[in-house]
Amino acid sequence: MSTDPTPEAAAPTALPATPHTSSSTTPPTSSPTSLPDDATIAALRALAEELATEAGALVRDGRPDRVEVAATKSSAVDPVTEMDRASEELLRERIAAARPDDGILGEEGADVVGTSGLTWVVDPIDGTVNYLYGVASYAVSVAVVAGPPDPARWTALAGAVHSVVDGRTWAAARGQGATRDGRALQVNRPVELSACLVGTGFGYAASRRADQARVLTHVLPRVRDIRRLGSAAIDLCLLAEGRLDLYYERGLNPWDLAAGALVAAEAGATVTGLRGEPAGSTMAVAGAAPRVAELVRLLEEADADGPGGAL
Ligand code: IPD
Repeated sequence: MSTDPTPEAAAPTALPATPHTSSSTTPPTSSPTSLPDDATIAALRALAEELATEAGALVRDGRPDRVEVAATKSSAVDPVTEMDRASEELLRERIAAARPDDGILGEEGADVVGTSGLTWVVDPIDGTVNYLYGVASYAVSVAVVAGPPDPARWTALAGAVHSVVDGRTWAAARGQGATRDGRALQVNRPVELSACLVGTGFGYAASRRADQARVLTHVLPRVRDIRRLGSAAIDLCLLAEGRLDLYYERGLNPWDLAAGALVAAEAGATVTGLRGEPAGSTMAVAGAAPRVAELVRLLEEADADGPGGAL
């Protein structure tokens, strides 16, 4: 890369100490006995916003005209760029400095085991393929969760998604609502399923994609239209502000989901999986409650979580 991946940054936001008991014997996946108070959660949101915005500036300012693929991950079309690594390194440095007792779960690096019961879940570029091609929808996603770093079991406390190209920042704190650049968000009122604009996404493995295409043939004829914008985090934030009515995707990683799902939920969305399971890698469905129930039924009928799409 022709850019400096670690520019000087503002000092991280000072936070009240986390109320969890720190203990070197506490396993990283244990649930905290209590959640932080509202003021601490609000401060965590401010830190998440600050981190996502700072990493977003790095990604924006450092993008060369032609981005090279540095490596591939789950398949030949699942790219990593130098900027994914630089952005994640920056996030890890800042989190370690501001919250040394917290764990870190990131897309591009080793898990950091914390002692506080809180874990930062970061996606340095969500929408890497868009970043690679210069298509506008990509973001830095930063969330902090309590309990095991697994979407089905964690309690998301705060999160922020910073859209790199246009600088929009969505943020949420548990029980305190969701905002875009400070403006409170509310999901759309439910309309008929046939009038719903539905966001979705596809995995990187050919076998999963084939099954996702099959499922799409059940969904597409029953809704207004489908959007595949290429960043799950942004999709969930667009849902939160009423630019999508529904969203579903199989195969999301925890870092794709963490901040965006909290933003959607705090804007009034139901966020769930299929067959009574919580949202997670098997399936995440989000939107206004009655339409989510219909879409869940449709996806279950289509066996959207079935073995056909398993990796
Ligand atoms: C991807 C994006 C995409 C979604 C994929 C994700 P990445 O994340 O969120 O919209 O459809 O499932 O893997 O790889 O760009 O961080």
